[in-house]
Amino acid sequence: MSKKINSLKTEVGKDDGLEKIVSLCKRRGFVFSSSEIYKGFSAVYDLGPYGVELANNIKNIWWKNMTQFRDDVVGLDSAIFMSPKVWEASGHVKGFSDPLIECKKCHSRLRLDALLEDYGIMADEKMTEEEINKIFLKNKDKIKCPNCGAQDFSESKNFNLLVKSNLGNFTGDIDKEPVYLRGETCQGIYVNYKNVLDSTRVKIPFGIAQIGKAFRNEITARQFIFRTREFEQMEMQYFVSPDESEKYYEEWKDLRWKFYLDLGIREENLKWHQHENLVFYAKEAYDIEYNFPFGFKELEGIHNRGDYDLTQHSDHSGQDLSYLDPSDNKKFIPYVVETSAGVGRTFLAVLCDAYNEESLEGEDSRIVLKLAPKLAPIKVAVFPLLKNKPELVAKAKEIFDILKKEWRCEFDDNGNIGKRYRRQDEIGTPYCITVDFDSLEKGDVTLRDRDTMKQKRINISNLVSYLKGKIND
Ligand code: GAP
Repeated sequence: MSKKINSLKTEVGKDDGLEKIVSLCKRRGFVFSSSEIYKGFSAVYDLGPYGVELANNIKNIWWKNMTQFRDDVVGLDSAIFMSPKVWEASGHVKGFSDPLIECKKCHSRLRLDALLEDYGIMADEKMTEEEINKIFLKNKDKIKCPNCGAQDFSESKNFNLLVKSNLGNFTGDIDKEPVYLRGETCQGIYVNYKNVLDSTRVKIPFGIAQIGKAFRNEITARQFIFRTREFEQMEMQYFVSPDESEKYYEEWKDLRWKFYLDLGIREENLKWHQHENLVFYAKEAYDIEYNFPFGFKELEGIHNRGDYDLTQHSDHSGQDLSYLDPSDNKKFIPYVVETSAGVGRTFLAVLCDAYNEESLEGEDSRIVLKLAPKLAPIKVAVFPLLKNKPELVAKAKEIFDILKKEWRCEFDDNGNIGKRYRRQDEIGTPYCITVDFDSLEKGDVTLRDRDTMKQKRINISNLVSYLKGKIND
């Protein structure tokens, strides 16, 4: 018997409620701070051995849903570097910024919308500079610098989020001839839209999907991997005729909601947020938000971008990016319905949703990640009951060698069985197999279920087919 004894929410108010997740991620090799031996590097993180498995599982499920299971979406992998003209055309050089203020006493630079939020004043991430400034001036009397307590701030100014680089910049002056690390992956899709159209058999409506790194000079680094300066996006751009954009927008909203349920996230922890103040490219924008320990926050944006992007790139490049409809020979610039999700945020949401602390019989307790089996970094762990009995070790290795052809598995002969279970519970392994002396005689093993902790005997020859039904759902 187990009983839930704690949740992440109890920590809210003290900090961002993520201490337990951060600690588990470090302790068990999911996430490490970047360059930790040099005291870290702000807002950048590395994925450890289990983290990379979890992230790959998220990406593979997304990719399969977007491409393999459909016949109207194709994939792309565009380069991170693009012509700087792309970012001028897209509007990012001028319009992609966050409001920044500086404390005149301690010179801390603060993201104004985040500061307002600390006082319970909601400032939408996608508001204009003017709108946020207005809210700030109205509430100025109660707002203090979080670092020194002063109430003396500079005027708010916009801080551009694009990260500059000096690629091929021989003068050394990156301000004069900047090259940018991409701020969103979808621009690589727009500039290849015509290549895809000309080289494949796609016809409108069709989509292009891409997973890749994006970079933003985020002012405020906090909430662990929720907001980082280097992150991965899973974006799909669906090209449609203008009069059908609303229909497809609703369809994609529905599909994207179901994606998170399919990952095992509890529906009560998801909600929609409609943006009233729209970001410069959008005609309509909704976010799917997840109930993180620090509150409901954006997981994914679903935008009707209209013909903004293709028109901008047509105008700036001089290339005709219109579509000729073969059914009536009419030309139009397609509208784009975009679904834009973050790998890191999905990763954090599934961890928060799966995290459980349970009290067990006696004094014992356990931390268990109740991840959907398809997300679990390790699907099956195989243990010989005793390390010093070569025949048990050999049999367990034999089973491990069979299972590892199907799934990412782990062999562990270290410590007592209870400790080995705890370790696997903490990384979310759905099944553990123990090989004992009966296994040698009867050809069966003990199979232990992570969530119920119930054990049953199962014949070795039935293991793969039994587990296939449980893991590959
Ligand atoms: N192409 C549209 C676009 O990029 P966005 O709302 O700025 O839209 C989409 O970003 C998603 O990318 C977000 O919902 C989030 O999951 C992820 N994301 C954005 N900025 C991020 C950051 N600094 N750190 C981690 N994930 C981020």
